[in-house]
Amino acid sequence: MQLISGKAVSADIRQDLAAQTIEFEKKFGRVPALAVIIVGDDPASHTYVNNKIKGCAQVGFRSICQKYENGTPQEEIAAYIRSLAEDDGVDGILVQLPLPKGYDEKYLLSLIPDSKDVDGFSPTNTGLLSMNRPNTVSCTPLGVMHLLASTGVQLAGKDAVVIGRSNTVGKPMAMLLLNANCTVTVCHSKTADLASYTKKADIVVVAIGRPKFLKGDMVKEGAIVIDVGINRVDGKLVGDVDFDEVAPKCSFITPVPGGVGPMTITMLLANTLSAAKNRLS
Ligand code: GUN
Repeated sequence: MQLISGKAVSADIRQDLAAQTIEFEKKFGRVPALAVIIVGDDPASHTYVNNKIKGCAQVGFRSICQKYENGTPQEEIAAYIRSLAEDDGVDGILVQLPLPKGYDEKYLLSLIPDSKDVDGFSPTNTGLLSMNRPNTVSCTPLGVMHLLASTGVQLAGKDAVVIGRSNTVGKPMAMLLLNANCTVTVCHSKTADLASYTKKADIVVVAIGRPKFLKGDMVKEGAIVIDVGINRVDGKLVGDVDFDEVAPKCSFITPVPGGVGPMTITMLLANTLSAAKNRLS
């Protein structure tokens, strides 16, 4: 069994992004810029946003972080997003999710132009991925593809099972694996006899949000297991995979923490650089 180190893969990519940022600045006279908007005081969301801002600094991007109190009128936030959309000096706009109750997520996200949608959440970017003409792809599943590539294992022809069908992770994950010529099955909370699918899979990506959901007897010998879960249990981070049971059966497996987690923000940075290049070239 080999551990896939998201930390190491992520560090390599960030180093490359920092070098590309220097070239970008030489060519365009400024560095890429990301604007992040957060509403309310959810501590986990603030931690994520702080890490996104730190990531920008690490690779040399400019970042703007706008924090709104829960209760700020939606139109005030909408007006700000519109101003960022029109600002030529801003390449990426990200609204941290989930928004507090009462805000219309679909409406606020619709104000982000496709060209600045560094989360890859827009209907156009989602549709382009499903047509295998990807523009900007959702960060977490994109990070998983880099981790799979780091194993050196050929993906074409492999049986892949994705557990979870969210618009942000499960569905784009399935599309990316399909585009890489895997045979893909999407399982979810209502799937009957889920283990019958996972037991046959060469690759299992778990993004169901239940601590230690995937057990040892649910995977086949030699499988690659990718754990997208970040669950807080008694103050500790626990994945969706029962690591102690599953790891001995795997050829490769991601740990939590230090697996998929570090990749998500790295992919956001990569998406921001791509958006900046596309806008200015
Ligand atoms: N909340 C949790 N993950 C994400 C993400 O990837 N993007 C945004 N915008 N919000 C999130």
